[in-house]
Amino acid sequence: MKFLHQNIETHRSNLFMIMKRILSVIVICSLISHSQAALEVGFYRDKCPFAEAIINHEVKKSYLIDKGIAAGIVRLQFHDCFVRGCDGSIFIDSTPTNQAEKDGSTNESIRGLEVIYNAKDKLEAVCPGVLSCADILAYAARDSNVLSGGVYWDVPAGRRDGRISRASEIVDIPLPSFNLVQITESFANKGLTQADMVALSGSHSIGRSHCFQFTDRLYNHNTKTMKDPNLDPHYAQLLRIVCPKVLQEIFNQTLVVGMNQSPFYMDSSYYGNLFKHAGLFVSDQSLLDSQTTATQAASYAANDLSWKVDFAQAMIKLSQVQVLTGNQGEIRANCRVINP
Ligand code: HEM
Repeated sequence: MKFLHQNIETHRSNLFMIMKRILSVIVICSLISHSQAALEVGFYRDKCPFAEAIINHEVKKSYLIDKGIAAGIVRLQFHDCFVRGCDGSIFIDSTPTNQAEKDGSTNESIRGLEVIYNAKDKLEAVCPGVLSCADILAYAARDSNVLSGGVYWDVPAGRRDGRISRASEIVDIPLPSFNLVQITESFANKGLTQADMVALSGSHSIGRSHCFQFTDRLYNHNTKTMKDPNLDPHYAQLLRIVCPKVLQEIFNQTLVVGMNQSPFYMDSSYYGNLFKHAGLFVSDQSLLDSQTTATQAASYAANDLSWKVDFAQAMIKLSQVQVLTGNQGEIRANCRVINP
């Protein structure tokens, strides 16, 4: 009986903590939308009332054909925001005189661009010149997260599109070989904390990776050892089967593995895997390299909802990095090209 009471009490206090965090997402959402006057939840309510529904429809349509597209779109938000801020510059096509971001090496595996292009076409038909490509991406990333099992958040909107996209600037995006100090620094450069970084990294619970992103860990770790000792031997063996060394040269760009055991479902199992030394990238596994980050990872591994709520907060923050607002930039008519 005493045990039952204790259990009920623990459940109650867990529930209370989760409710507090959900409330804090709502409060933070409204604080952000007030403190940065230019970004606002419901920005298109009068300007284009069906905007969110149209975007949601496009995302769902693509998701039904290929669930992996949700992961692609969440990653697009990250890659757009880390280069010149969340200004839709990732969508711009290269020209004969300019190699654009999307054609730079770190972006060679991005996917989901077509979903944003299609949504933009639909939106231009009903509300011409109103929705920025940067905002469409922010809504689509939220919807992709929800479709994958994550929590919903209100998107502060009012971003405008940039007019510059340079492949040479994608060096701001961290690499999978980065250690904890390097990834922390790259997030700090964008005004994001180490705690934001730990929460955002959990999005590696969905999607896929090309073998070439991590095969050094299997075959070419350093001059002393071929295999990364920080990688669980059984997991490494599995990865070697999917990514055989002999096929690397020929199928470098096509061989892929799921990021996780459930690559279409957002959950905190990503953090649990780290404690089994089954983080796919050096950068993932490095989250256990400090007491602070390891404690945060352990708390997420133990409580899926608490991670999902923190992830939502961190995505709201990520999607506000160096945004263009007011009279800055433009509303691109076509996400692929800057306005004449
Ligand atoms: C911490 C630094 C990070 C590094 C080094 C990193 C690196 C990578 C790499 C190498 C891939 C594999 C891409 C491929 O080969 O197709 C990947 C995939 C992915 N990343 Fe990250 N990433 C980081 C942070 C983030 C963040 C902050 C987000 C989102 C908020 C994110 C979301 C994703 C998603 C969803 C995928 C799967 C994409 C797909 O299936 O198409 N990543 N990441």
